Amino acid sequence: MTGEDEGLATLTAQRWERVNRRLVARVLAEFTYEGLLSATFDSDGWRIELGATDYRFTATRGVWGQLRIEPASVERHPAAGPMRVTVLMTDLATALSLDGATTGNWLQELQHTLLADLQIDARRARIRLADLDDIEQQALLSGHPKLVASKGRVGWGLDELARFAPESGEPVQLQWLAVARTLASEAPGNQIDRWGLPQGWLDADSQNELTRRAAARGADPARYRLLPVHPWQWQRWVAPLYADALASGEIHFLGAAGPALRPLVSLRTFADVHARERAHVKLPLSVRNTSCYRGLPGDAILAGVRLSAWLDGICRRDPALHPRLRVQRELAAVHVRQRAYEALDGAPYRFRETLGAAWREAPAARLVSERTVLLAVLAEREADGTPVLAHWCRQADCSVAAWVGALFRNVSAPLYHLLCAYGIGFIAHGQNVAVILRDGLPVGALIKDFHGDLRLAEDAPAIGLDAVTTAAIKRLPADHLVHDLYTGHLVTTLRFVGDALAASGLLREERFYAALAHTLREHQEQHPEYASGFRRYDLLRPRMARVCVNRALLAAGYDDSAERPLPVLGPPLDNPLYTVVHATPTVDATHD
Ligand SMILES: Nc1ncnc2c1ncn2[C@@H]1O[C@H](COP(=O)(O)OP(=O)(O)OP(=O)(O)O)[C@@H](O)[C@H]1O
Ligand SMILES: [Mg+2]
Repeated sequence: MTGEDEGLATLTAQRWERVNRRLVARVLAEFTYEGLLSATFDSDGWRIELGATDYRFTATRGVWGQLRIEPASVERHPAAGPMRVTVLMTDLATALSLDGATTGNWLQELQHTLLADLQIDARRARIRLADLDDIEQQALLSGHPKLVASKGRVGWGLDELARFAPESGEPVQLQWLAVARTLASEAPGNQIDRWGLPQGWLDADSQNELTRRAAARGADPARYRLLPVHPWQWQRWVAPLYADALASGEIHFLGAAGPALRPLVSLRTFADVHARERAHVKLPLSVRNTSCYRGLPGDAILAGVRLSAWLDGICRRDPALHPRLRVQRELAAVHVRQRAYEALDGAPYRFRETLGAAWREAPAARLVSERTVLLAVLAEREADGTPVLAHWCRQADCSVAAWVGALFRNVSAPLYHLLCAYGIGFIAHGQNVAVILRDGLPVGALIKDFHGDLRLAEDAPAIGLDAVTTAAIKRLPADHLVHDLYTGHLVTTLRFVGDALAASGLLREERFYAALAHTLREHQEQHPEYASGFRRYDLLRPRMARVCVNRALLAAGYDDSAERPLPVLGPPLDNPLYTVVHATPTVDATHD
């Protein structure tokens, strides 16, 4: 039987080897970065010892101490047939004494990741990412750069991947429910029509059709609201867990309707490729992906509308932010109570987050002569190895150094300002930040996702934000908050942009970080009034905490916890924003 017979047309021996090699290289690199493994360099090249087994490879070491491993060069000694993630995991389990339950579950997530990688590899061989627009690009990205099981999607099989995974490129039509208003919590500040949807979100025909179906079941807008639900979520989670409400008529199932949407890289947020200005909708999807189940927690989702409006106001009023930092505002949100699980103390969080929705304005609704590119795209390379961002350097007719300079000034510096001037920590990773390009040049950032990814300093006054929303936001001490930017933006995102540029010889990492450090210092000089904030959130200090997501996964295991997993620290991290400016700049150039 061939892979094609099984609906796996992209599974060829050659491609399987290629995606395995890439993932093996990533696991070795990130585990070394997190301090779980140590790599040595000798006359035979780089080597990582895993007990009686050695992995040898060609690599360069970057300014974070990270390894850029050449996937094609990796060899296992003694050889064990073709390069396989399955073999590496067995080696790791023995060498690191990992427990069997964790390793077994983890291996499953890695195998799922490889299935997605097959599809992405096949499609990217035929296109250039730089030629695609934002929605199409998001379907073909490599996924979370640090969590090696970056596309785990536990709970999905081939059918679900074909229908709902972004890389399949298939449109998804949502299912609809009429939900009794007594069961649904509306976000304060919602801008909605009589059916509880953002004005004009549904075309008139779809709305009329849903109104007809609702009326046939005795549901009218005075007592019910319409709610979209992901088709998989409906059959797998909502129908079984809300059977009481379905039986009592508090929820009616209305079937499929409305536009065909495309899932973005987060799986659970959808955009309309045919009507780009249509608001994006984010839906709970209780599939486990990169560390947690992707449902929608009530408090966070309901706070988003007011929070994004408040943040938008700050960004518009402050000349240090306007017009560079812009907010993808939330228009409406709803969360549907799960009474049975609310009453069960200690039940896993995933059971309380299964039904609801949030709408946020589409980038295209705000931008006229500009476009957006997810920050994560800047870490990607085309099939021929060229960093994707080289395309926009050419379009802007500027050098790579000038281009990243514009990126730091117009994207990183405003985020830094938000933290230091307001005590607002925003997890500025590559999926939450989009770079705004004008004629190919970065002119600003569009930020989104205020459902837990925006936090406040313990003493931040949050002036102008109502008490209920303020209470819903997590407060963190300065030493933790600084990592929303340091870890989220630098370690998780810019580290990989710098890698792509360094690996292809377009820009040395030392120049990349020296330019970033220079931009931050320049920002400090321009705003002496925030000196105490700059001291408090000192991104330029010699050492930082190393936040390790794969270690966190190992520590949490796959227990069905009531809470989401917490970060775990590795050995302290020498800060390249300090070292490239203060040390002699020869970071392993010999191994280039
Ligand atoms: N480069 C990336 N950086 C971070 N996360 C990524 C990246 N690529 C893909 N992802 C995926 O995107 C999701 C990021 O999680 P996050 O909570 O920020 O977003 P979300 O709440 O799911 O969606 P949205 O940002 O649309 O509100 C995860 O599922 C993660 O695996
Ligand atoms: Mg996000």
